[in-house]
Amino acid sequence: MHPTIVQQPYILAIESSCDETSAAVMCGTQVLSNIIATQKIHEKYGGVVPELASRAHQVNILPVVHQALSEAGVQRHQLNAVAVTQGPGLMGSLLVGVSFAKSLSLGLNIPLIAVHHMKAHVLAHFIRKSADQEVPAYPFLCLTVSGGHTQIVLVHDAMNMEVIGETIDDAAGEAFDKAAKVLGLPYPGGPMIDRHATHGDALKYHFPIPRLEGLRYSFSGLKTSLLYFLRDRKKEQVDFIEQEMDHICASYQHTIVTYLLKNFSRAIDETGIRDICLAGGVSANSYLRQRFHELASTKGCRAFIPDFQFCTDNAAMIGIAAYHQYQLKDFTDLNWAPKAHWKMS
Ligand code: KG4
Ligand code: ZN
Repeated sequence: MHPTIVQQPYILAIESSCDETSAAVMCGTQVLSNIIATQKIHEKYGGVVPELASRAHQVNILPVVHQALSEAGVQRHQLNAVAVTQGPGLMGSLLVGVSFAKSLSLGLNIPLIAVHHMKAHVLAHFIRKSADQEVPAYPFLCLTVSGGHTQIVLVHDAMNMEVIGETIDDAAGEAFDKAAKVLGLPYPGGPMIDRHATHGDALKYHFPIPRLEGLRYSFSGLKTSLLYFLRDRKKEQVDFIEQEMDHICASYQHTIVTYLLKNFSRAIDETGIRDICLAGGVSANSYLRQRFHELASTKGCRAFIPDFQFCTDNAAMIGIAAYHQYQLKDFTDLNWAPKAHWKMS
C-alpha cells in the first residue's frame, strides 16, 4: 500500500483592515506569495485618513490579488478557500476586502473564512519557512504590539487566546507615530524613530511611565510628556530637536520598550510559561527585538519573532490563521458584516 499523500489546501488570503492592501497565496502553512501595497497617500497627512484608505483599497485590491496569484503560480480554479480579515480595523477599509472575498467565494464556489486580525498577528509565528523550523509550543505568551493594539496574550491554542494585559488608551505604535509627528518626522513614525535611535544615547533623557495595577499599559501620557519636554527645551535652544534628534528618539524608544517588557516580564513570572513571542507592526523595532532576546535569555525562555515581512500588516498572517480554521472547517456563509471592534476573547 502506498502512504496517503495529503494535498495541502491552496488558500487565497486578503488583508485590508488599515492602510495596507495585501493578498497572499498559501499552500498549507507555506507562503507562495505575499503582496503588500502600502498606501503612500497618508504620508502627507501624518496619519491614516480612513476615507482615503478605503478608496486606495478599491484601486489596489484587484491588481494585488492578481499579482499574488501569478507570483504563486496558482490559478483561480485551484483555490480551495478564500480568507479575509473580518476585523478589528477601519470599517471602510474592511468592507473593501470583505466584499471582494465574498464575491470571489460566491463566484468560484469555494468556502469563505473570516479571520480575526489580532489572532492572525499571533499565528504569524506558524508560517513555515523551512522543514526543521521550531515553532512555539502551546500554551505560550505573545506580546502583540501594533498601531492599534498593545496586548499580552496567553495563547492556549490556535483558536483560543486570552488577553491578560492591554493598554487602556493609546497603543505602543501610536506612541511611536505621535511622537514622530511632534518631532517633525514623516509617517509612519515608528521606523523613523528606530532609525534615529540607533545613533543616540538611550539614557540621555528620561520620560516617566505610569504605574498601573496588573498588566495594563497606558501610553497617552508619554506622548504628552514628550510634548512638554520639547516645548521647554526649545525655549532654551531653538534648534533643540534638530541637534538632539537621535538622543531624543533613543531615549523615548528606550522608555516604550522598557515599559512593554516590564509588564511582559511579570506575565512570564506569573504564568511560568517559557515560550515567548513578539507580534504586530512594532515588533519590527530593532531595539525591541534585541531587548526581547535579552529578556528571554535572562528568564531561560525560548523567544520567537516573525520575519519583518510578517510583522507589519500582511495577508500571509491571515492565510496562516485561515489554514488553522480550514482544518476545523470553520467556514462562514455570506451574511455577516466586518467588525471595527472585535474582542479576542
Ligand atoms: O501591525 P501594523 O502594521 O498595523 C496595525 O495593525 O496597527 O502596525 C503598524 C505600527 C505603526 O504604528 C508603525 O509605526 C509601527 O507599527 N512600526 C514600528 C516599526 N515598524 C513599524 N514601530 C517602531 N519601530 C519600527 N521599526
Ligand atoms: Zn496589524
